[in-house]
Amino acid sequence: MWDVEKIKEDLKEALSEYRYLHSLRTAEVAKDLAEHYGYDSKKAYVTALVHDIAKEYSEEENQKMIQKYQLDEALLTEENQKFAHGFIGAALVKEKYHFEEEMLEAIAYHTAGKKDMNWLTNIVALADKIEPGKDYEGIEQERKLAFESLEEAFLYCLEMKQKKLEKRKKLIHPQTKETIYFLKMTIKKQ
Ligand SMILES: [Fe+2]
Ligand SMILES: [Fe+2]
Repeated sequence: MWDVEKIKEDLKEALSEYRYLHSLRTAEVAKDLAEHYGYDSKKAYVTALVHDIAKEYSEEENQKMIQKYQLDEALLTEENQKFAHGFIGAALVKEKYHFEEEMLEAIAYHTAGKKDMNWLTNIVALADKIEPGKDYEGIEQERKLAFESLEEAFLYCLEMKQKKLEKRKKLIHPQTKETIYFLKMTIKKQ
């Protein structure tokens, strides 16, 4: 099993206080959501805890990590930059803590989700957005929805984001678009 205290020590070293506290809050929300829906709450806690483990690397460090772990070089492009820390983080914890595949997917895709995502990816991505330290328009509705339907809550988050981007005349990333489509289809089938 995972040594949560050791992981916390490692995180404290790797992250600023701000992001360390964000990680703790995200882990708490992920645990609550998992408990609510009858999933493994320890797994949700520990996965959410490390989701941003690679968030504070410099561009240079990112480059090194992408080479070291033979990740997709496309993660270095401006368009994909915000996804890099998820994939690097997943590679890092695989090596460091031997996390299972399901957990690695959740860390890799926590920024925008993916199609056919597992429950853990949905929970970690959602917890990251609604943890109590966050405050933006629509968040109360997201927090309420989170305990009604994981898919609907995450879809709501992503669509809010899409609206905000549209207002700023910016395009939504194809990865986010794919997740929105997947969630819509999943909800339709339910
Ligand atoms: Fe992140
Ligand atoms: Fe985060």
